[in-house]
Amino acid sequence: MPKTRKRSNSVRHKTPAKTSPRSHAERALLAANQRFQSVLYANEVATWTWDMVRNRVVADQNLARMFDLNPKDAVGPIESFMAAIHPDDRFRLAQAIRSAPDGANDCFESDYRLLRKDGRVVWITIRGKVERDRAGKPKYFFGVVIDVTSRKISEQKAEELYSRLERQSRIYDASLSSITDFAYIFDARGRFIYVNQALLDLWGLKLENAVGKDFYELKYPEELAKRLHEQIQLVFDTKAGLVDETQYTSPTGMGGYYEYIFSPVFDSSGKVELVAGLTRDITQRKREEEELKQSRESLRALAAGLEAQVQLRTAELEKRNSEVLKQSEELRQLSLRLMQTQDQEGRRLARELHDSVGQLLAAIAMNVATVKPQAHKLDQAGARAVEENGLLVETILAEIRTISYLLHPPLLDELGLRSALQWLVEGFADRSKIDARIDIAPDFRRLSPDLETAVFRVVQECLANIHRHSASKTATVAVTQKSGHVNILVYDEGKGIDTDRLREISDGTAGVGFRGMRERLRHFGGTLDVRSGATGTKITATLPIESPAP
Ligand SMILES: Nc1ncnc2c1ncn2[C@@H]1O[C@H](COP(=O)(O)OP(=O)(O)OP(=O)(O)O)[C@@H](O)[C@H]1O
Ligand SMILES: [Mg+2]
Repeated sequence: MPKTRKRSNSVRHKTPAKTSPRSHAERALLAANQRFQSVLYANEVATWTWDMVRNRVVADQNLARMFDLNPKDAVGPIESFMAAIHPDDRFRLAQAIRSAPDGANDCFESDYRLLRKDGRVVWITIRGKVERDRAGKPKYFFGVVIDVTSRKISEQKAEELYSRLERQSRIYDASLSSITDFAYIFDARGRFIYVNQALLDLWGLKLENAVGKDFYELKYPEELAKRLHEQIQLVFDTKAGLVDETQYTSPTGMGGYYEYIFSPVFDSSGKVELVAGLTRDITQRKREEEELKQSRESLRALAAGLEAQVQLRTAELEKRNSEVLKQSEELRQLSLRLMQTQDQEGRRLARELHDSVGQLLAAIAMNVATVKPQAHKLDQAGARAVEENGLLVETILAEIRTISYLLHPPLLDELGLRSALQWLVEGFADRSKIDARIDIAPDFRRLSPDLETAVFRVVQECLANIHRHSASKTATVAVTQKSGHVNILVYDEGKGIDTDRLREISDGTAGVGFRGMRERLRHFGGTLDVRSGATGTKITATLPIESPAP
C-alpha cells in the first residue's frame, strides 16, 4: 500500500516540464495521476496488505477512515477489520478470504457492506491478490477497497427502474392479451415488435415466431401486405394516425372483416419511433350493414313495385271515374231530356184531352142539353139518367180540364208564369183544403218558356210534397226577380223532414222529386237549398235569368 502511494508520488514528481517534447503523453499521465490522487483523497479507495503467515494487516489511512477505525488501529489482525463489515456480510467475507488462495490466479473480488457507527451503510468492492513464497505457500494478501456506494445506489435505482419497466410491460402484455381486439406494434421497417395473444391465436403462431417479421413474411396476401406496409410508412412520414378496413383470412382458416387503427408512437424528440396498431373484428357489423342494405334494397324494390301498382290502379280508377262521370253526365242529360219529353208529352196530352176528348164531351154535353127539355117525356128513371148524364159530363169536363191544365197549364204559355202560378196555388188550396198563398209581384216580368216551365214545375213539386208529407195547414209561395235572378221560396208549417232523410236529400241519394228539381235548376245554372225542422220546411231555389223575355 505505501508502495502504491510512493509510486504515484514518484510519478507526480517525475512529471517533466510542460515544454518537454513528450509533453502531451506525459501531461495526460499527470492528469490521470492527479485524478487518481483526488480519488484517494476523496476517501473512495483504500489499500491494505495482509501478512497471512503472521495474520497482520497493514491498512492505509483511507481504509482506517472507511472502516471507522482509529488511525493507530490501522495495523492489526484481520479480525479487527472484520468488525466493521456488515453483520449480514461478515460470514460471506470470511469464507471468501479463506478460500481466496484456492481461486483462479489467486485473485479475489467481491462486494460487501460496511456498517458504520452512525448506522450508515457503505458499499465496498474488495479486490485482492494472494502472493506466494517460493514453495507456493500463500504469504501475502493485498489489495484495494473501493467505496462503491454511489454506484450501488444508481445500480439499485436502475434495477428498480428495470423491474418497474418489466412489471409495466408484463401488465401491458397481460392486459393486451386479455382483449379480443388485436394489439401490435411495428418498427420503422414494418416488422412486428409486439403482438398480443388474440392476434397470435388468429395466426396460430407463438410470439417468438411472429416478432421481427413483416406482413410478407407472415404470408399476408401480396396486395394487402403492400397496402399495410404503405400505410405504416405513411404514419411514420405524416406523424398522423389512420383508420381503414380490410378483409383477411389467416392461414389457420380464421378470419373476417376488420377495422384497424395505426397510431404513431413518438420518441422524446418528437420523431415517430414506432407505430401502434389496434384491429377490431367488425364481421358482424358488416353482415348487419349488408343485411340492412339488402332489406333496404328489397324494400325499395317493393316500394317501386307498389308505386307501379298504385299508378296502374290510379290510372284504372281515373279511367273508371271519368267513365262514371261521363255516365252520370249522360244520365243527367237523359233525365233532363226525360223531363223535357214529359213536359212536351204533358203539353201534347193536355192539348189532346182539351181538343179531342174535351170537344167530344162538349158535344155530349150539348146533346144532353138538347135532350134535357124532353126528359119529362121519359119515365122517372130515364129522366133521372138524363139529369145525371148532364152532371157527369160536366164533372168529367171539369176533371179533364184540371188534368190537362196540370199536365200543362195553357195559362203558362198565354198569360205567363204569374197567372199560371196563381191558378196553381188557388187550385191547390181548393183541392187540398190547405191555406195556400202566393206572393208574386204584379209586374213580374216574363221569362223564357223553358225557364217559366222550370219555375212552375219546382213550385208544383213543392206544393205536392207539402200536401203529401208535411201535414201542414198552410203553404206559402213567394217568387221574386232580383239582380238577374229568379228566387223561389216555398215554405210550410208542417212536421218537417227527419234528419236522416234530409241528409240523403242533401247527398242526392234520396228523393226523386228533389233530384228532379235539382236537375232542372242545374240545367239553368241554378241552386236548391232545403231547410227543415220541427216547425216546418223551407225550400229556396235561385235561377239566373240568362235571357229574360222581352
Ligand atoms: N214539405 C215537406 N214536409 C215534410 N217532409 C217532406 C216535405 N217535402 C219532402 N218531404 C220528405 O222528403 C221526401 C223526398 O221528397 P221527394 O219529393 O224527393 O220524394 P217523394 O215526394 O217522396 O216522391 P215523388 O216526389 O217522386 O213523388 C219525401 O218522401 C218526404 O219524406
Ligand atoms: Mg215529391
